[in-house]
Amino acid sequence: MINLTSVNKSYRQGNGDYQVLYDINLKVKSGEFVAVMGPSGSGKSTLIDIIGFLDQDFEGSYIFNETVVSDLNRRDHAKLRNRSVGFVFQNFKLINNQNVGENVGLPLLYAGVKRHDIHVRVNKVLDQVGLTDSYYKMPKNLSGGQQQRVAIARAIVAKPSFLVADEPTGALDSATSKEIIKLFKDLNQNGTTIILVTHDEKVASQARRLVKILDGRIQSDEEITNEDL
Ligand SMILES: Nc1ncnc2c1ncn2[C@@H]1O[C@H](COP(=O)(O)OP(=O)(O)O)[C@@H](O)[C@H]1O
Ligand SMILES: [Mg+2]
Repeated sequence: MINLTSVNKSYRQGNGDYQVLYDINLKVKSGEFVAVMGPSGSGKSTLIDIIGFLDQDFEGSYIFNETVVSDLNRRDHAKLRNRSVGFVFQNFKLINNQNVGENVGLPLLYAGVKRHDIHVRVNKVLDQVGLTDSYYKMPKNLSGGQQQRVAIARAIVAKPSFLVADEPTGALDSATSKEIIKLFKDLNQNGTTIILVTHDEKVASQARRLVKILDGRIQSDEEITNEDL
């Protein structure tokens, strides 16, 4: 599904360039659960922003299914993003003056889905993330873990091809982190492809494959065999 070959990424800085990713070769198949781990500043977010079609300014090749991502114009790149990826971030990024249901339904509203169908689908996804009967609650009245569940519901509501989660447990205590990781595991077992960035070894160990990044390079890329680490 995802196929990066010899991807390099630099930021322009003053006169010169500042290189952040070096010769990234990465393939992810449908159904995988990949953790990307590395120290702060190693290039993890830069990499998944490319994978999640947020950033098109890189060198090398990215082929998504049959689409050559680097050949797309801006509009088609954005379309691919809206159609194919769900995002989960460290700080949830919910809209605070909208209720839970409205937050979760937003991607469907943008996609032009009918109001009634949105309502039905949102309730179904809220059930899936353990937030039954939370449609009319306001985000500010929820715990951090519950807010992240809302964000995960929003990420999966439009049935994207894959989920990208950037430090999704970074703002949560360890018990809540465990619950959120359990939710990702359940979603993956139900067929959702997940790419999860973390610098937490405990979180990473719950994935099925671990890609380690150091100074913008893939340092190792291995299956995780010990399920209960
Ligand atoms: N928009 C940007 N402009 C310039 N440099 C950036 C930008 N975004 C990130 N960087 C730099 O790229 C490097 C990698 O950043 P990032 O991908 O965010 O790392 P990580 O997510 O692993 O902490 C860092 O040195 C960071 O300062
Ligand atoms: Mg980051």
